[in-house]
Parts: sequence; structure tokens; C-alpha cells
Amino acid sequence: MEKEYIPVRESHLNYYRAIPLYYLNKDRSFGLYKPPGKAISEMRIDGGQYPNKLYIKNTDKLRSIHEVQREFNKQLEGNIKSGNPDSVKNILVNIVEETFSEPRSGSVEGLSETVNILVSDYARESNILTSILNLSQNDYTSALHSVNVMALAISYAAHANYSLADKKILGLSALLHDIGKTRISSDILTAPRKLSEEEFNRIKAHTTIGYNILDNCRFPYADIKLCALQHHEKEDGSGYPRGITRISPVAQVVGLIDCYEALTNDDRPYRNAMDPLKGLTIIKDDVMAGKFSKSVFEKFAYSLL
Ligand SMILES: [Fe+2]
Ligand SMILES: [Fe+2]
Repeated sequence: MEKEYIPVRESHLNYYRAIPLYYLNKDRSFGLYKPPGKAISEMRIDGGQYPNKLYIKNTDKLRSIHEVQREFNKQLEGNIKSGNPDSVKNILVNIVEETFSEPRSGSVEGLSETVNILVSDYARESNILTSILNLSQNDYTSALHSVNVMALAISYAAHANYSLADKKILGLSALLHDIGKTRISSDILTAPRKLSEEEFNRIKAHTTIGYNILDNCRFPYADIKLCALQHHEKEDGSGYPRGITRISPVAQVVGLIDCYEALTNDDRPYRNAMDPLKGLTIIKDDVMAGKFSKSVFEKFAYSLL
């Protein structure tokens, strides 16, 4: 059974205005802490003057994600304009985490606005996406990986002279390519050991799971869900889930960038990150072996310069 009340993250407390917050009594009943339409004051939050744990009603979950996304998007715009890459990266990881906590129609579409902000003129002028890639973060999470792949994909699109509409589609597809992993246990995803065949098959299923999640969302283009389904396919048929050789263009680009990002970042506890040149050399071997498109590889290599 779904819980009636769910805890909210402390770092998000100041974003809840329209949504009422509740506290837990000693007798396990819930009381109203903050009515709808009022925010907890900044002074109170800074001074830690609020109950240890606060909750929202589960029925308010989607509305609350919208509210948090809206607030984050506002901050994102401000931080891009003032050129603050650290905050931009933090906000992006937070937006993705918040959205992926309830990955379904009604929450996922909210990320469109985030990508719109990132492909805007002022974001391009400030080179913010290249700056955030150079910042390392302590935890390598799925959200961070998605943000990195998106940042690389949007710079790729800019170098390859994509139209604004196509940049948005590529950016959003990149941000959502691994959304299916939200339904796979993190024990398997982060296991610091070799996986059994069954476990590996479970991980492979993130492609079809992602497709199904996105198929239920209201996006006006099919590329986003096709990218989730096909980003591990290879042109020589050696990929998964289906082993196809005709891969959608968006999935080809995201698939290559996804590999590069995984090589150049610490995505597994037992492996260390490679420098960009080494990463590119490995991808180039795959291009030679017929796994990736040569023209996508060349454009990507240029976009890194
Ligand atoms: Fe993936
Ligand atoms: Fe990925």
C-alpha cells in the first residue's frame, strides 16, 4: 500500500508554498505544520527552527514536484545569467533527482522547461555547459551522469549547427536516456563487482523500461523515447536490447556520448576515470570496429575542443 504521507528533503523546504506541510506527532498521527499558500521563512529555515522531519501528503506529490521544478528553473535561469557554474550544476542534479523520484507522466515533462533554459541564447553566450563539465562532484550518481550527458549533447548540437528545436530534442533525450534505471534496484546498479548474467539482463532492461515510461509522457516527438530504447544499440548489431543496426539519429549521438561520459567519469567504484583523450581513443576503436557512426564521432570530437 502507498504511504499517505511522505518526507520532504530538508534542502527543498523553502520551495513549498502552495503545498501544505505536515509533522509527525508522538502518537504517529500527522498535524498540519504549514498551510497552503504560505512559505516557511528563510530565517526559520536558516536557524533550523522547524520540526526534525516534515511531510507532504502523497496525493500532493506531483503538484509538489511541479512547484520544486518551477522554483529550481527560476534559480537556474538566475545562476546562468550571473555565470555561476557550481550552482547551475547543483540545481540541475537536484531537478533531475526530484523528477526521477516520481518518474511518470506529469513530472517528467517538467524537464522540458529546464532544457529550454539551457539552450537559450544567454546560456550559449556564457558557455555555462562547458564550465559545468569541468567541475567534479563527489558522488557519481545517475542524475549527475544524465546531466553530464545532456551538457555534452547540447554542445554537440551547437557545434553541429542543429536548429533550436533539434537542440532541445537532443538535450531532453540525453537527460532522459537512462530514466529506466529509476526502476532498477540501486544494489545492482552500483555493485562493486562483476554482475551475474541475470543481473546484467536486469540492467539491460532499463532501455525498454525507459521507453515505456516515456511512451506514457506527453512529449510531442518520438525521438526521446526511441533514444531511451536504442542508446545501447550498435551499428554492427552487437548492442541491446534488440541488436538492431538501423538506429535513430538521436540515439546514435546520445549512445556515443553516453559511452564517452562513462569512460571519463567514475561510474563504478572499481574503475577510475580516464582523461578525455584516452576516452576518445577507446571510442575511436569502436568506430573502426563499426559500432558507432564515423561522422557522429568526428563532430563529437570537434565539439570537445
Ligand atoms: Fe543506458
Ligand atoms: Fe547512460
